[in-house]
This record gives sequence, C-alpha cells and structure tokens, in this order.
Amino acid sequence: MLETTFVDYTFNNPLMNASGVHCMTQKEMDELSESAAGAFVTKSATLQHRDGNPEPRYYDVPLGSINSMGLPNLGLQYYLDYALDRQNKFETPMFFSVAGMSVDENIEMLKVIQESDYKGITELNLSCPNVPGKPQVAYDFPLTEEILTKVFAFFTKPLGIKLPPYFDLAHFDEMADVLNKFPLTYVNSVNSVGNGLYIDTESEEVVIKPKDGFGGIGGEYIKPTALANVRAFYTRLNPSIKIIGTGGIRSGKDVFEHLLCGATMVQIGTELHKEGPAIFERISKELEELMTEKGYHSIDEFRGKLKSIVD
Ligand code: FUM
Repeated sequence: MLETTFVDYTFNNPLMNASGVHCMTQKEMDELSESAAGAFVTKSATLQHRDGNPEPRYYDVPLGSINSMGLPNLGLQYYLDYALDRQNKFETPMFFSVAGMSVDENIEMLKVIQESDYKGITELNLSCPNVPGKPQVAYDFPLTEEILTKVFAFFTKPLGIKLPPYFDLAHFDEMADVLNKFPLTYVNSVNSVGNGLYIDTESEEVVIKPKDGFGGIGGEYIKPTALANVRAFYTRLNPSIKIIGTGGIRSGKDVFEHLLCGATMVQIGTELHKEGPAIFERISKELEELMTEKGYHSIDEFRGKLKSIVD
C-alpha cells in the first residue's frame, strides 16, 4: 500500500531519516537500514572528518528541537566506503549527503562520487545554518545557480539538493526559476528553520552553546513552513523534479499532509531523535490506517492533490 517509486527505484514506503539524525556512524546507518524506513540518508559529509561545534549543541524541547551541530561527520571516504560496501548487499539504494564548506569542496566531493562506483542517490546540502561564518548557500540565488552550473557540467548520477525554508512567494518563484534550469532529481524541503533561539526561563540561559544559543529549529514548530515549501515547489518545479518533504513529522497524519502537498518521499528528524528507529514502524502503520479510513489504496491516488477553497 505504501510502495513508492522514486527515480527508477521502488521503496517499501516513503519514510526516511533526515540527514543528521541517526546516520553518523556505520552502526546507526545499519540500524536505519534494518528498520521499517523505506530508505535512509547519511549525515552530510565534508571532505575531511569534522568534530563540529562545541557541546551542548542539540536540545529537545516540547514542540521540537534546536540544534547547532556544525556538521560533525566522519568524512567523505567513510560514507563512500559504507555506500560501496552496502550496494553489493542491497538492491535498494541509499542517499549520500554532502555539504562542503566552499564551492570548491562541494565540487571536489561530487567529483569523487562521480568517479566512484557509487550507484545510489546523492544529496547536495546547500542549507546548513550552523557553521559559524558560513551563510546558508541557498539563500543566495545567483550562487546556487553558479554551483549547480558547475556541478551539472560533470555530474551525471541522480542528484537532489537540500534547501532551507523560504518565507516569501517571490523567493519561491525565484528559486524555482533557478532549479528548473537543471536536471535535478529532487529538492528536499526543508532544512531546519535557521537561527532560532530557545531559552530556559528558570536559568535565564540559552540551551545550546554554539553561536550564543542560536540554532536550527525542527519539529512541530516548523510543519506549516515545511508544508508550504513542499507545496510551493511542487506547483512550480518541472514535474521531473521530485520533492522530499521534511519538517514537523510526528505521525502518519503529518506524512499524509506532506504527500498531499506533493512530496514523493518524506524525512523525519526531530521525532526520530526522540523515539529512535522504531518510529518508522509506528508511522507506517498510522499512515496505512489513515489511508484505509479514507479509502485510498496507494499514495499515487492522493499525492499532490491538495484542494484550494473555491466559491
Ligand atoms: O549543524 C549541522 O550539522 C546541521 C546540518 C544541517 O542542518 O544541514
């Protein structure tokens, strides 16, 4: 019932982790691979191993989370070795996320992936809000176009990009015009809402250390923003560019809403961090129950079919 076709692959369901949650080490990725998730994505890699920002750098709050991890990861080669080994054992592909500190680093990493035997899907993360001194790339439209022009001059494997949330219809239009120029496989909307501030009233202190407490907000707080971004890009992008919906998913109903807005796959971050990989079984079941109640037999029957209010 939940089978999902994405690129040329069929996944058991549309559920994935969001990059950054439960995907740093081989053990965590194996746990995702063995879970009920349809697919999984690695932590965003940089060319070299990074320790990331000082701790505390992730904090769960009742309506979500705040984080400023600073891209801690084990380096491109670690994830590439894992991916190459895995593809000899499994038919369904994984997603490989990269987030360079510069245009050149992104190009260098994508060249390594292009020249390797890697057959899966690659995600270029242009939206990390947490590296001090590095603005979120995809808020700079000309820079995004420049990067994608350089990338598609040599990269021929399936490639998606992870976007930050946008908040203005003019920005959806402008970014969609850029993205429609390229043979992207997908866009992933949204990364965390950057540079929020969560405060502990009792101690009168921020809850994470980096950047004086400023960090990316995830979870329930951001679902309406995530749904708006999914919908905005679904209605503006070439139909060949699929959407991965990320943001605020805690239940099967939340997944249903992302799919209704046009997402083909969905990613779960904050709630996966709270519940662990067993979440995928719970949410698949909830989604199936909701679809049954509504009389749907497949996701394709309602994907993207959000209704507007008409007179
Ligand atoms: O700080 C981090 O590692 C987060 C990365 C991201 O949101 O892309």
